[in-house]
Amino acid sequence: MAALPTVVFMALTSERTERSSERGTPADSRSAVAVVWNSTVGKKAAMAVSGLVLLGYLVLHMIGNLKIFFGPADLNGYAAWLRTIGQPFLGHEWFLWIARLVLLAAVLVHATAAYQLSRRDLRARPTGYRHRRARSSYATRTMRWGGVILALFIVWHILDLTTLTVNPKAEPGHPYENVVASFHTWYSGVIYCLAMLALGMHVRHGFWSAAQTLGLNNPRRDRALKACADLLAFALTAGFLAVPIAVMTGAVK
Ligand code: HEM
Repeated sequence: MAALPTVVFMALTSERTERSSERGTPADSRSAVAVVWNSTVGKKAAMAVSGLVLLGYLVLHMIGNLKIFFGPADLNGYAAWLRTIGQPFLGHEWFLWIARLVLLAAVLVHATAAYQLSRRDLRARPTGYRHRRARSSYATRTMRWGGVILALFIVWHILDLTTLTVNPKAEPGHPYENVVASFHTWYSGVIYCLAMLALGMHVRHGFWSAAQTLGLNNPRRDRALKACADLLAFALTAGFLAVPIAVMTGAVK
């Protein structure tokens, strides 16, 4: 992560030069955070860092979900333990709420930066030649659609397994039973399986983009970083998919 300060420095210097030559006003009057956020390189760095925070959560969440293969007592006990982390220093569920706020902040930063960067990208394209208008790359389009699918999935997933609003069983404190009930409906199986495939593609390209943005890549490390992106995407997709597939095939009842 030693490259992050370099990215921030680049954002500060490039944006300050740009602004002061554009308007003849000193950009120092704006806060450093605003200067970094308004620059393209700063938004990309914010996307990279928030994406890595979300990736860390996903790895832990996927490993936690695999407890379903050890039976109801293990998964339900694990969910109950999550609510007691930090006690007695912290109160009941405080850690969970702190984690939820961090995740929400990461999602908001990630989505806002992605939206604003794609708007900038569209504005920068030539508009006169309608037929020969440059199209964004396949990877960029996949990332944008993948991001939208994942955002919709997260809303459905929270309604299904956190608030239990759309869950057929809806037993608070019993995630094992709720997960099994959810995957007994065909539409839930379809939604989760499609979303997990979108997640794998998003993580594969996103991890590699983050490494480039943060300046972690170089000719010697590129192969290892690409292998790491492939491995992470595969492990997350397979680990998450294992749960709906196990329930739908009757391996987990
Ligand atoms: C088949 C895959 C998945 C299964 C079986 C699953 C299962 C669960 C369960 C059982 C909960 C409730 C945990 C509890 O209340 O203690 C939960 C919460 C959650 N999951 Fe998943 N999950 C899956 C995939 C994902 C993915 C891919 C994401 C993100 C893209 C995600 C994000 C979340 C979030 C944000 C929460 C809410 C945490 C909270 O506020 O308590 N999950 N998941």
